[in-house]
Amino acid sequence: MPVAIITGASKGLGRALAAALAERGWDLVLDARTESVLGDTARELAGHGGRVHAVAGDVTDAEHRGELIARARALGGLDLLVNNASALGAEPLVRLDALALEGLRRALETNVVAALGLVQQALPLLRASRAGGAVINVSSDAGAEAYETWGGYGASKAALDQLSAVLGAEEPALRVWAVDPGDMGTDLYRAAVPDDADPRPLPGTVVPAFLRLLDERPVSGRYDAPSLLVAS
Ligand SMILES: NC(=O)c1ccc[n+]([C@@H]2O[C@H](COP(=O)([O-])OP(=O)(O)OC[C@H]3O[C@@H](n4cnc5c(N)ncnc54)[C@H](OP(=O)(O)O)[C@@H]3O)[C@@H](O)[C@H]2O)c1
Repeated sequence: MPVAIITGASKGLGRALAAALAERGWDLVLDARTESVLGDTARELAGHGGRVHAVAGDVTDAEHRGELIARARALGGLDLLVNNASALGAEPLVRLDALALEGLRRALETNVVAALGLVQQALPLLRASRAGGAVINVSSDAGAEAYETWGGYGASKAALDQLSAVLGAEEPALRVWAVDPGDMGTDLYRAAVPDDADPRPLPGTVVPAFLRLLDERPVSGRYDAPSLLVAS
């Protein structure tokens, strides 16, 4: 069966995507920092069919990233890497004039540096994938639009988009998709804007957009989930 690494998979979008792939029989390597929550998720998803390896750790830790790759190799290889774990840089979000530089560094380290680090370590396995290796880098409209207070996080997602675009050009045999999932009612969103009482879609509602990419394998590029959902 195909093998995927999904970072930030204990809850939110990562968990919803992991559940959908588990139902399709994929073997999964999942990470998140909070071991207890990740363990509960992994136990639940293991009942869906495929093998599920939970590896607690922080994606900014190179040793931890190496462990994720090692687990995938032990499962037989790697067909899909999903860089989903993300840092906001400030919780709640603040305007740029108040953004702590350490927060910006944290966002860049988590959302950009760690994502590229995992890609670099994953490339040999992805290139060898018989199904055709793919990378999904989870982006945000904050990387493309100028929303007040979303500047640090948005800058990190813009950088991730550009890494994705160049990687797609450099690795024509792979698929590299940067995907903006749209707003979702998750802990990350609540931490970003705690005063926003408007209901947001649950992460499971955008998973079909990600499955469509995997099924149809369109060219590498930047996609947004609402468009993929409308067109399907
Ligand atoms: N929610 C939205 O409205 C929205 C909109 C656009 C884009 N996105 C993007 O969608 C993706 C998923 O976000 P979400 O809303 O589903 O967030 P979420 O529900 O808060 O889940 C985030 C996941 O990432 C893990 N995580 C965070 N930092 C990590 C780190 N350094 N190392 C390893 N795991 C880490 C968290 O677990 P631990 O805390 O235990 O580590 C959790 O499993 C992110 O890339 C986000 O930027 C979200």
